[in-house]
Amino acid sequence: MTPADPGEIAAIDQRQRSLPLVAALATRAGRRSGRWHVPGHKGQAIEPTLAAAWGDCWAWDLTELDGLDNWAAPQGAIAVAEALAASCFGAAATRFLVNGSTSGLVAAIGAVCGDGDEILVARNAHQSVLSGLILAGARPRWVMPEVDRPWQMPTVVTPEAIAQALADYPAVKAVLVVSPTYHGWVSDLGAIAALTRSRGIPLIVDAAHGAHLGLHPELPPSPLAVGADLVVVSAHKTLGSLTQSAMLHLHHNAQIDRARLEQALRWVTSSSPSYLLMASLDAARWRAATQGRSDWEATLARVDRARSRLVADPNLQLLPIANGDRSRLTVHLPGWTGYGVDEALDRDWGITAELSSPHHVTFVWTPANSDEEGDRLVMALGELARSPQASPGSEINWPGSLAPIAPAPLTPRAASQAPTETLPIAQAVGRIAAEWICPYPPGIPVVIPGERISVEAIAQIQQTLALGGDCTGQADYEGQTLRVVA
Ligand SMILES: Cc1ncc(COP(=O)(O)O)c(C=O)c1O
Repeated sequence: MTPADPGEIAAIDQRQRSLPLVAALATRAGRRSGRWHVPGHKGQAIEPTLAAAWGDCWAWDLTELDGLDNWAAPQGAIAVAEALAASCFGAAATRFLVNGSTSGLVAAIGAVCGDGDEILVARNAHQSVLSGLILAGARPRWVMPEVDRPWQMPTVVTPEAIAQALADYPAVKAVLVVSPTYHGWVSDLGAIAALTRSRGIPLIVDAAHGAHLGLHPELPPSPLAVGADLVVVSAHKTLGSLTQSAMLHLHHNAQIDRARLEQALRWVTSSSPSYLLMASLDAARWRAATQGRSDWEATLARVDRARSRLVADPNLQLLPIANGDRSRLTVHLPGWTGYGVDEALDRDWGITAELSSPHHVTFVWTPANSDEEGDRLVMALGELARSPQASPGSEINWPGSLAPIAPAPLTPRAASQAPTETLPIAQAVGRIAAEWICPYPPGIPVVIPGERISVEAIAQIQQTLALGGDCTGQADYEGQTLRVVA
């Protein structure tokens, strides 16, 4: 078995054609009466709209019953389904997650860091990483990703930056990076893993956007295949499972205390994990194993076709991604904000993008997108780019630059638990943040609990809001006030 090519593995492994958890659930779902157990709907719809739309899913929404195993101590159908997922994706072990990659990342940090322990984290970390730092009591040591200036987005974390940070912070217990990014940038994880292995510390990869990597030879390899210790993937984003379902994969030589990881996973997982979500993960693994290669062959061909037509259009620009995940398509229409493009596509064309920014808009392709949809997207973008609003050559003035990393007198946990006061945002400069603020885009937290709030951070928040973007993490959704340590 070569972990680098899960699609090939599946082709020779007949067990991958089975659906153990789906089959177990089907058997129990057939029992319509005699249900004296929860859930309280007893397999019957409680409302007509959902009854019509959701069909029989009520009957399938079951809990830990005979034959259905127990997520917290899997020994039956869940254990078999997870083992098949591990084999399909080239892992030594896989755990199904019902609370997204969010729960996997929080648990991963909890498994490697205790109170006051240091961990090296790429600054473009998702907010779930901040939750993990707060819950574990860990002290982040930040490493900056590269930034594509014209497109104003974080790209990769270089091995050189990691090597320097490891030299600067020799006590770190682990390294955590995001790869691929939202836009499809993939870091040189092989080189980074070589650095962490030589230090005897684990490399944790937030691959929320890369559950499909490695399923086709023209996609980047999966982080596991190049040596990452622990990889968290949002199967719901690209493998077709239900929203919130995700997987945590462990490398064969993972430098992770498995018992501690299991404990941390239980902290962040319901004692009634959804069997609908877990069965959808079983189905997503089956699909990846049995048709992953052909699914992504077709998908990449569709994206390439759209890409070649868009590249030929002089009125718009395509984000060039070298060595990245080309199933992500990011487009800039001069004269338009990304928000404007998003709105016009939704309103006039019934097309909804994944992510928009002042500068660009990003589309996620999966095997569920058809050729017709691709053609319509290309046509719509072409028309918008030729509309009177378009002005080739004009650029949106959106600095969106990365705020410098500020001094951090407190850990994120200490700051989150300290007495606070709430200030108008402009008056918060120089104070210690008690909450995080993460402008979307670029999705990099600019204010971190425990750090002194910089002028640049406040400017970036205000700019993002003024241009119609959002900020998340703070108590005041409008972003007008900020909680600081009293
Ligand atoms: C980079 C990154 N990491 C982690 C997550 C969390 O994933 P989930 O929604 O599956 O919890 C996201 C969600 O968008 C993300 O973009």
